[in-house]
Amino acid sequence: MSTAVNKASLEQQAQALHVSIGHHDYLYYVLNDPQISDAAYDKLMAELLALEQAYPELVTADSPTQRVGAKPLAAFGSVRHAVPMLSLGNAFDDTEVLAFDKRVTDTLHAAGMVGAAGQVQYQAEFKFDGLAISLRYENGSLVQAATRGDGQTGEDVTSNIRTLRSLPLKLMGDYPDVLEVRGEVLMNRADFLALNQAQQARGEKIFVNPRNAAAGSLRQLDPRITATRPLRFFAYGWGQISGELPYQQHSDVLDWLGRLGLPVSPLRRVVDGAQGLLSFYVDTGAERTQLPFEIDGVVYKVNSLAAQEVLGFVAKAPRFALAHKYPAQEETTRLMGIEVQVGRTGAITPVARLQPVFVGGVTVTNATLHNEDEIRRKDVRVGDTVIVRRAGDVIPEVVGPILDLRPEGTELYVTPTTCPECGSAVEKPEDEAISRCTGGLFCPAQRKQSLVHAAGRKALDIEGLGEKLVDQLVDSDQVKSLADLFTLSVEVLASYPRMGRKSAENLVAALDKARNPELERLLYALGIRHVGETTARDLAKHFGSIEALMAADEEALLSVNEVGPAVASSLLRFFAEPHNLEVMQALKRAGVQPQAVQQASSDGLRLAGKTLVLTGTLPNWSRDEATRHILAAGGKVSGSVSKKTAYVVAGDEAGSKLVKAQQLGVPVLDEEGLKAILL
Ligand code: IVH
Repeated sequence: MSTAVNKASLEQQAQALHVSIGHHDYLYYVLNDPQISDAAYDKLMAELLALEQAYPELVTADSPTQRVGAKPLAAFGSVRHAVPMLSLGNAFDDTEVLAFDKRVTDTLHAAGMVGAAGQVQYQAEFKFDGLAISLRYENGSLVQAATRGDGQTGEDVTSNIRTLRSLPLKLMGDYPDVLEVRGEVLMNRADFLALNQAQQARGEKIFVNPRNAAAGSLRQLDPRITATRPLRFFAYGWGQISGELPYQQHSDVLDWLGRLGLPVSPLRRVVDGAQGLLSFYVDTGAERTQLPFEIDGVVYKVNSLAAQEVLGFVAKAPRFALAHKYPAQEETTRLMGIEVQVGRTGAITPVARLQPVFVGGVTVTNATLHNEDEIRRKDVRVGDTVIVRRAGDVIPEVVGPILDLRPEGTELYVTPTTCPECGSAVEKPEDEAISRCTGGLFCPAQRKQSLVHAAGRKALDIEGLGEKLVDQLVDSDQVKSLADLFTLSVEVLASYPRMGRKSAENLVAALDKARNPELERLLYALGIRHVGETTARDLAKHFGSIEALMAADEEALLSVNEVGPAVASSLLRFFAEPHNLEVMQALKRAGVQPQAVQQASSDGLRLAGKTLVLTGTLPNWSRDEATRHILAAGGKVSGSVSKKTAYVVAGDEAGSKLVKAQQLGVPVLDEEGLKAILL
């Protein structure tokens, strides 16, 4: 075999592997439809690597082994765009869209390109919130990638762009000699959150939003770092293309780019006239928060390429396209102060006081900062210019500071050591992120919140007792506890501002109704930590009366389905607290009497009245699981074997308890035997 033939066949072999790996990358990263296992893919890659190692002359720039590997750069080179990268005119309301459509229709009508009654056809797309990139393919190979820069000249980010696995290094099918593809690089929201978590764990830079993370990841001088960042790309246009364009519509060209193996802007729609544009805007707006990535608007483009040419450009933007923006979800403003709010359980939440800013369609003056750790993590300081975010109906939050704009002399935030509402000490349990006021119901803020909670729909459902009135009742010392609510008279209530006699009467009637709540509602209303609606229901069913619950010891509490040590100890603490006992008595005096509960009886259950002991490791059930099943069947679980033990359930490596059972003649079951009794 001659050397030339041998070389040609090796090249063919390498080429075949390029194509195969490229094809599987496309299936996996673009179509989300992998057709071989990871192991099979790795094998192809290993084969190619081995081949290239043996014959280094086979390594080409578009080999899939060359995605990562380039060395860090000292600086980015600059790239002059063959066709300038333009920007888009913006519209913020329907009127501007109607005016755009009218301008376009009039011009095209004058040019004889639409009939008298005809409507212009548009391609409507997402306006991706990432960064614009131009990719240059020559003879089907990716040779250069550049940022937009000033539109004329951008930065050369080729090595970084190569690491995006969704981008083909080699185009598929019938490609032109030169093809410049334009599109947006971005990061999915979920990937952004995961990246930030990893960054935080490593003590590295936190990004304020996905766009920032995408830009920061792409503008890394070390492509090996970019390679670890989950960047995506969507094509929405093109620059230079050699030869005749094979299509006449913008939408068709994008479809064609898709067939060449490029990820193309998804969920595009071809629409007619202004109404078509506005419907797309509304429909997309409704889906916007469900999308995996962020968009800041939609883009309309006249679909006919001939019409685009007739319309031409003004300054740096085309006349044939328009960006229709959604209200910004993020804005910058000044952080004027950080105050704390005290919640029902004493949880201290720092709240940002902001210079009012219009964001997400409303004016925002306060935003949550979550907790002290979060403030530290984001390093937000009073005086900072901060990014405020309000997406959909989510409560506004401070995303982070703009460090470049930080004034001198700002200080790190520290949580107050005493509660601003009651002066009690503030404590932060070691394993929790949240600081708490230790004032309990002595703290007016906690008292107010617990009253609002007790009056809520899932609790006592006291109609007409809102936050404002609770504030007034507590501030005037009229109401100090839940029980005091039930002593309020029409006269007293009517004496409060903005409280007519009729409303006062209605509230007294509502209070009357609330005197005989279902037991589970009263339990939930008490606001005992860890006792949510479901636990309250389980407790009510199990104990049947408030007296029985108050008398229960730890063992009795733990025997309730779904009650674990945290709930049990919280209940024990609550009912051991003298102040709470006073409130319980006062409630009784005020005539609050929960309805009797049909108690779930344990008679008739398979293990009613029986005590079991678990020892060793069961094959399938953990000890907790086995315990839950036994409790649910009306049985008890004990730690030691006696003559009264009904059964010992023994698994692997059972020890002295099994011996004791045998000595005492207590029946021994394995997991199967236990299941047979339970079922
Ligand atoms: S077309 C000649 N289409 O918006 C028109 N741009 O303000 C060039 N963008 O820098 C842009 N999604 O980064 C176009 N579907 C889309 C887009 C889009 C996002 C960005 C792009 C550009 C900016 C224009």
